[in-house]
Amino acid sequence: MLKRLLITGAAGGLGTVARNRLKHVAEVLRLSDVANLGEAAANEELVPCNLGDRAAVAELVAGCDGILHLGGVSVEDTFDRICEANIVGVYNLYEAARLNGLPRIIFASSNHTIGYYTQDVRLDTEMPMRPDGLYGVSKCFGEAVSSLYHDKFGQETALVRIGSCFPEPRDHRMLSTWLSPDDFVSLVECIFRVPRIGRPIVWGVSDNDATWWDNSGARFLGWRPKDNSEVFRAKLDAAMTPPPADAVDAVYQGGKFVAEPIHQD
Ligand SMILES: NC(=O)c1ccc[n+]([C@@H]2O[C@H](COP(=O)([O-])OP(=O)(O)OC[C@H]3O[C@@H](n4cnc5c(N)ncnc54)[C@H](O)[C@@H]3O)[C@@H](O)[C@H]2O)c1
Repeated sequence: MLKRLLITGAAGGLGTVARNRLKHVAEVLRLSDVANLGEAAANEELVPCNLGDRAAVAELVAGCDGILHLGGVSVEDTFDRICEANIVGVYNLYEAARLNGLPRIIFASSNHTIGYYTQDVRLDTEMPMRPDGLYGVSKCFGEAVSSLYHDKFGQETALVRIGSCFPEPRDHRMLSTWLSPDDFVSLVECIFRVPRIGRPIVWGVSDNDATWWDNSGARFLGWRPKDNSEVFRAKLDAAMTPPPADAVDAVYQGGKFVAEPIHQD
């Protein structure tokens, strides 16, 4: 069991799942965000912090022996907003970790690091990145920083390229990319349980029949996702028409992100 697990982005969608369902992983959960975190429960510390503030991030990380890094801009946005949270913020986090005993990090990376691959390609984790926007580029930057800090300092990071983590798939593309909240929770548990992890890339995806991703490299974690999006296919078919074969969300792994412009203020 960890002594103090830092969860960044704790007010967000996945942060709320982690806050509610990962209490048993650490004696104390240190929860951080720029958004309101509500009231602290018994084993919680609330530490509001902007990831772009280097001194504040150094204090935030001190005393933590694990980090679940979910904080940051989670969709396509302007470069300046992405830069503060996902580029400066990630550098700040890794520097703080280096100066505070190299706590193991789970980095919430994304399928948008590879979004320009077409859906007929089966990907393993060795294939070059093909980001589908500036958000994806920022996640590629995070993966590169984790590589540097692993090679130079031995910093361990599990890079979880999350597909789509919601209670149910919301469209037909998500039949391939869906990660159930239960499988997300069990993945985090496994990553903090394994004695040594190094710096694996893990596809954050459930055991979907329609998957595009080969997760065999992550089997050493002992993680066996239990859910399969196929149980939702009939419900989705009834709720919406699948996209035409030439639509971006039927062609590219990153779906509609491929069609996003470069955002301006
Ligand atoms: N949910 C998914 O399906 C999915 C898919 C791929 C990747 N991810 C990644 O997982 C992480 C969590 O995703 P989510 O869906 O919970 O996103 P979310 O947007 O709900 O939560 C992100 C949180 O980060 C906080 N944040 C933003 N900028 C910040 C800053 N400068 N300093 C501190 N906090 C800041 C936000 O206030 C928010 O609460 C994100 O990094 C996202 O990119 C999620």
